[in-house]
Amino acid sequence: MSNLNLTSTLKSNQSISVPQLGLGVWKSRPKECFEAVKSALSLGYRHIDTAAIYGNEADVGAAIQESGIPRSEIFLVTKLWNADQGYDSALRAIDVSLKKLGTDYVDMYLIHFPVSGKRNESWKALEKIKAEGKSKAIGVSNFMVSHLEELLKETGTIPAMNQVEYHPFLQDKELKEYCTEKGILLEAYSPLAHGQKLEDPRITQIAKRYKKSNAQILIRWSLQAGHVVIPKSKNPDRIRENADVFDFNLSEADMKEISSWNENFRTCWDPTTVD
Ligand SMILES: NC(=O)c1ccc[n+]([C@@H]2O[C@H](COP(=O)([O-])OP(=O)(O)OC[C@H]3O[C@@H](n4cnc5c(N)ncnc54)[C@H](OP(=O)(O)O)[C@@H]3O)[C@@H](O)[C@H]2O)c1
Repeated sequence: MSNLNLTSTLKSNQSISVPQLGLGVWKSRPKECFEAVKSALSLGYRHIDTAAIYGNEADVGAAIQESGIPRSEIFLVTKLWNADQGYDSALRAIDVSLKKLGTDYVDMYLIHFPVSGKRNESWKALEKIKAEGKSKAIGVSNFMVSHLEELLKETGTIPAMNQVEYHPFLQDKELKEYCTEKGILLEAYSPLAHGQKLEDPRITQIAKRYKKSNAQILIRWSLQAGHVVIPKSKNPDRIRENADVFDFNLSEADMKEISSWNENFRTCWDPTTVD
């Protein structure tokens, strides 16, 4: 019925294929994170999104090792934290992350936030990190159009991916169009609006028709909209539920309806105002 499945990938402009659905682990405490990653991998997830600042890279690494799944089959993402931005400090930070993750490389290394005065130097370090094979691809997070325009003007490599908050209640269509035009994958973080919009009656109404949960409707919308999507859960039942989104298609009319719900509702930091 659905043309997507849990191993579906999207091709990035850096010739790397990114599994479209992944598990986010922000706010998963160390032991929870270990169990969540183990559950996800056993269910067939092959994409894990962590960050140095989450404080759980070691647990992600341990869960990957314990899963017995070859490292090459798992798409692992981590991020350069703000305090480590700058050329030399970024080069040091990736080594610290790799050590904690217990691996020689990540599949995607992202600049976590566009820190002004430092982001372009950080990007040059990421180019070196990619050239050295410590990350197969490099990208950014929380970059708005102005940050991307500046990056493209001042440096050489187009980011493979831009991880930004994106869900029906927060859709920056100009940013999405810009990313599409440049071949930058748009990765939707907080696809469940951090859990804050799950009770919206409009979602409940649609979910009832498809006999799916509200979370599944939001995840499916994001997949059909062409985003890479990384819902977070520490709960094995919800991790399963969030991946059980490949046996139905949202109709064109429902996609259109959900896409009309933007209200600029942001749950996380705002890159247009925070520096
Ligand atoms: N780059 C950045 O700056 C940035 C910022 C924010 C997030 N992220 C990434 O994106 C990932 C996801 O975003 P997020 O964690 O902010 O929010 P989210 O995935 O939109 O929502 C997570 C919340 O929803 C709950 N939940 C998950 N599945 C559910 C289900 N099926 N039914 C009901 N509730 C459910 C979770 O609780 P339980 O855990 O208790 O299930 C949690 O409270 C993060 O983990 C992180 O990897 C990146």
